[in-house]
Amino acid sequence: MNRSNRTTTVAGFILLGLSAHPALEKIFFVLILLMYLVILLGNGVLILVTVLDSRLHTPMYFFLRNLSFLDICYTTSSVPLILDSFLTPRKSISFSGCAVQMFLSFAMGATECVLLSMMAFDRYVAICNPLRYPMVMSKAAYVPMAASSWAAGITNSVVQTSQAMRLPFCGDNIINHFTCEILAVLKLACADISINVISMVVANVIFLAIPVLFIFISYVFIMAAILRIPSAEGRKKAFSTCSAHLTVVVVFYGTILFMYGKPKSKDPLGADKQDLSDKLISLFYGVVTPMLNPIIYSLRNKDVKAAVRNLVLQKHLAK
Ligand SMILES: *[C@@H]1O[C@H](CO)[C@@H](O)[C@H](O)[C@H]1NC(C)=O
Repeated sequence: MNRSNRTTTVAGFILLGLSAHPALEKIFFVLILLMYLVILLGNGVLILVTVLDSRLHTPMYFFLRNLSFLDICYTTSSVPLILDSFLTPRKSISFSGCAVQMFLSFAMGATECVLLSMMAFDRYVAICNPLRYPMVMSKAAYVPMAASSWAAGITNSVVQTSQAMRLPFCGDNIINHFTCEILAVLKLACADISINVISMVVANVIFLAIPVLFIFISYVFIMAAILRIPSAEGRKKAFSTCSAHLTVVVVFYGTILFMYGKPKSKDPLGADKQDLSDKLISLFYGVVTPMLNPIIYSLRNKDVKAAVRNLVLQKHLAK
């Protein structure tokens, strides 16, 4: 880490974004804007149909509605800033603005991890214990389950963000990223960040490893239960109620693993290219999953398709 000679603390940060690639900036501005609109529309429609259609008033769709709402919040906490950084090269952001943005994105990301495992539990009870499903997944259970996902995500983010923003920043204030991503900001601190790194590792275990393990175990039980169903028709029907969730989980955790799991290039000449591709991948990662969730759920789910069709037809008939 470079220790700066200047001891003055910085008043704010500068987001580098894609400033070095003006041609890419324009393309990505249009692309990300379009994807953001699809996210707002897709998740908005999903929230609307799960509220309006009484056949979708079940715990599964309650969680799905919460996931859509979360996806809207998550992208809204970063996409407007990303778009702005494409229009304003070397965009400056105040220290507190950066803290708020970091807090919101981190909180939503952690909440999503927990919420996805709550949804896996919902599918586990529905398939492995169908007779007790109405009792186990009562309103008194699923509302607190969703609420505790939010509480856990927000608590984690309060801890991580306050730890990061308490660090001294002096001299270098250029964030080589589109947003105040926590790792990119930690790199700029002019103090020992080992405590932050340790607490990030602990948080990753709690919010990534444990949910993944939990989801994996749930699906082992789910698959075992489905394979015990004697008729092929019954097996197909049981599987169809959890295939959408399984797809979302694979896409969500798959992109995270792809992003953090791939080896870094050691070649200094390749570092620039690597840097650019890392940035673009993380940019896509932030918008692809929220965009895919409603698409996956509406393509793989007859009930959602029927509800959307009804909604459109009702609108037409009402006119
Ligand atoms: C998501 O869950 C929380 C906590 O149970 C609830 O208060 C909130 O209304 C839900 N949001 C939506 C859009 O359903």
